[in-house]
Amino acid sequence: MKLKPFELERMQSENEHGVEFNLSESGVEPLRIKELLDTPELKEHLLDMQLGYSQTNGTIPLREAISHYYPSTTADHIMVTNGGAEANFLVSWWLFQEHPDKREFVFMVPNYMQIGGIWRNMGVDIKKFNLRMTEGKWAPDIEQLKSIVTKKTGAIAICNPNNPTGAIVSASDLKAIADIAEENDAWLVADEIYRGAEIQPEKAPSIHGIYDKALITSSLSKAYGLPGLRVGWAVCPTKQVAKELWTYSDYTTICPSTASDWMATLALNPKVQAKIEARTREVVRNNWGIMKRWLDSHSDVLEYVPPDAAAICFVKQNTGLDSYDLVVRLMKEKSVLISPGEHFEVPGYLRIGFGTDPNHLEPALARISELLNELS
Ligand SMILES: Cc1ncc(COP(=O)(O)O)c(C=O)c1O
Repeated sequence: MKLKPFELERMQSENEHGVEFNLSESGVEPLRIKELLDTPELKEHLLDMQLGYSQTNGTIPLREAISHYYPSTTADHIMVTNGGAEANFLVSWWLFQEHPDKREFVFMVPNYMQIGGIWRNMGVDIKKFNLRMTEGKWAPDIEQLKSIVTKKTGAIAICNPNNPTGAIVSASDLKAIADIAEENDAWLVADEIYRGAEIQPEKAPSIHGIYDKALITSSLSKAYGLPGLRVGWAVCPTKQVAKELWTYSDYTTICPSTASDWMATLALNPKVQAKIEARTREVVRNNWGIMKRWLDSHSDVLEYVPPDAAAICFVKQNTGLDSYDLVVRLMKEKSVLISPGEHFEVPGYLRIGFGTDPNHLEPALARISELLNELS
C-alpha cells in the first residue's frame, strides 16, 4: 500500500523556507544555542564534545532529567526519541504490532494528524471522536467516545493541550476519557507536547498518574522553544514497555544526537527549565494580545475561540473561499504561510501560528489583512 502523505507537514516542508512570513509554526520563536550555554564552561564543554554515537535510548542523565517531571517514574520508564514525532511513531507502531487482537484505534479530531495518519497507513480504519465547540469552548464529546470505544479498542489517542485549537481538556474530561479506556482495557496515548505553553496561569492537566495504561509523548519543540534539538520522549507506565519501545527505535533512528542529548539535559535542569517555561509563557501571552487585536479587526470574516495554550489559534473563516484555496492564495500573492483546516479534517478553518517575534508577526498579519480586504 502506498503511503498517504502527512499533508500538514508536507505543505510546511515545501513552503516554510520559501515564504517571507511563516505563521504555520505552532511553537514559539526558538532559542539560540548561546542562550542555553550562558557560561564559558558550558561553551567549552560543547566544543570539546566527541561526536560519537550516544546512548541509544537517551543518556541516563537525560532520562533522569525527564523523569523528574513525572513523579514516581525513573530513568527506566523513559524512552528518548528524535522529537515528539518519533515518540508518536514508536508508540503507534508498538500499539499496532503488539496488540493484534485489539486493532480498533480511536483518534481525537481535530488533532495533529500524525498518529491517526500512521494507523491509517497501517491499514486501520480509525474511529474519530470529536472535540466540539460548545458554549464558546472546544471540549471532547464524551458521550460519542463512550459509544465508539469497544473491547477491541487498542488505544485512544488525544492531544492535550490540543493542536490545532489550543484548547485544554479539563481534568474532569480527562478522567472521563481515562475511565472509558479503563472499562475497555484500552491504552490511552496523550501527546502533551504543548504542556508548559499555557496562556492561562494554570498548567494543563496531564494524564500522568490518572491512568495506568497511559503513554505520554512530548518533546522540547514547543514549550521549550528548542525544536532544532530534535529531542522528544515517551513516558511509559512500566520499565518493560519502555524497553519494548527501545527495540522499535533500533529500527528507526538508532539514537538521539549526542550534542542534543547533552543540551536537552541542560534545558531540563529545573532552574533552566523554569526560565525557559517563563519565556515561552510570556511569548504566548504577549503575542496572543497582538493576535487577538488583529482577529477582532476582522470580525466580519473571522471567528475564534481564544486558545488556552500554544501559540496557535484555530480560526473559522467566512470569506466564501475554501480554506485550502485561501491558504494557497496567501502563499502565492502575499508570501505568508498558514495552515488550512482541511489538514486537521475541519474544513472552513485556518490555523494561524503567533509564536514568532512581534516584529515579524505584525507585518505578516498585515499581509493577511491585505488579502482579506481584497476579498471583501
Ligand atoms: C501535537 C504535536 N505532536 C508532535 C509534534 C512533532 O513534534 P517534534 O517537533 O518534537 O517532533 C508536533 C509538531 O507540530 C505537534 O504539534
